[in-house]
Amino acid sequence: MFHKLTPPPPDAILHVMQMFRDDPRSDKIDLGVGVYRDATGLTPVMRAVKAAEAHLVATQDSKGYVAMAGDTAYHAAMADLVLGGVVDTDRIAAAATTGGTGAVRQAMELIHTADPAAQVWISQPSWPNHPALAQSTDVPWRPYRYYDVQSGGIDRTGMMADLENARPGDVVLLHGCCHNPTGADFTESDWADMAAFLDKRGLIPFVDIAYQGFGDGVDADAAGLRHLAARLPRLIIAASAAKNFGLYRDRAGLYMVICPPEERDTTQAMMAWLNRSSTGFPPDHGARVVTTILNDPAMKAQWLDELGEMRARVNSLRAALATALRRQTGSDRFGFLGAQKGMFSILGGTDAQIARLRDDFGLYLVGGGRMNIAGLNEPAIDRVATAIAAVLAD
Ligand SMILES: Cc1ncc(COP(=O)(O)O)c(C=O)c1O
Repeated sequence: MFHKLTPPPPDAILHVMQMFRDDPRSDKIDLGVGVYRDATGLTPVMRAVKAAEAHLVATQDSKGYVAMAGDTAYHAAMADLVLGGVVDTDRIAAAATTGGTGAVRQAMELIHTADPAAQVWISQPSWPNHPALAQSTDVPWRPYRYYDVQSGGIDRTGMMADLENARPGDVVLLHGCCHNPTGADFTESDWADMAAFLDKRGLIPFVDIAYQGFGDGVDADAAGLRHLAARLPRLIIAASAAKNFGLYRDRAGLYMVICPPEERDTTQAMMAWLNRSSTGFPPDHGARVVTTILNDPAMKAQWLDELGEMRARVNSLRAALATALRRQTGSDRFGFLGAQKGMFSILGGTDAQIARLRDDFGLYLVGGGRMNIAGLNEPAIDRVATAIAAVLAD
């Protein structure tokens, strides 16, 4: 049997990680993998998480199974964080998942189960796992143009021209904030225009929110999604607590369906059933840490403070790099870096240029020039700007 296997397609990010590990240079810089790092290069356990875990160790008296869709207290806490109370609870179906990846996957399974003909429209570029998860759940997917590398902004004309081809009942996948990999987010008026367009065309939005709190703040980052939830009859949401709670390996995620109340119970039952046939009971530890933090005012305040520190660090690194590049290139060619949101931006560049950044300057980026801003540190900014100006400025 196993001799029939062929190797899976290489994972671009894992490949960059491996090359980075194998590089003996001490001044190499990893701007590839998408995790937050503090000034010492560490992806820290948040103090609020430590406090919640200490509380759980002291009080948790069972590790028995919870429920196929996970803990309803977790659903409620996350629904409140993401939706901010803009929709009635009788419109919300929810299930805990194995991280945000599991949330996207289970949502794809649900789409496929509900309507195998529905196509999911995915931004070009997007998180590479979006098309991969559509493919592995047999969901037909189509790309829509999103980003203009030259201007560093959203290609609104291309996006709308492509989405004109969507059929009623199709699903449009949007990034709630901190678009991965471009950092180019919708403005308030983009969200309003998109809501009107989706409504008119009978399209269902599917918002993946994996970086809530990394852009402008937890409420500001969810404002577009909340606008859709309040305005449209149906919305699918995939949320991750990996980045904003620093719970990467604990795999805390959730997906929600906002729908008319008469569709809610069957949708909820199907979501539980789909969990059963994929992971069985979803992971609980990370979810319980999140619930503990969000339901305890002191822990929540501490978490918001720490998240604010992470956001401020990413934003100040963005601004510092944009300023250094302005100085080095004498132009505003990379000015978009300062305005974009979240951990990622795209610098562009051919494979040969990305290889030159790596070989000559020890700078590790993913193909296409995706850069994890949080992988930078203040002392390296000038060196990074010199390398980018030398290789990519023209
Ligand atoms: C856009 C997007 N969605 C979802 C995820 C999934 O995150 P996780 O599975 O680690 O919770 C990521 C992680 O990189 C992401 O960038």
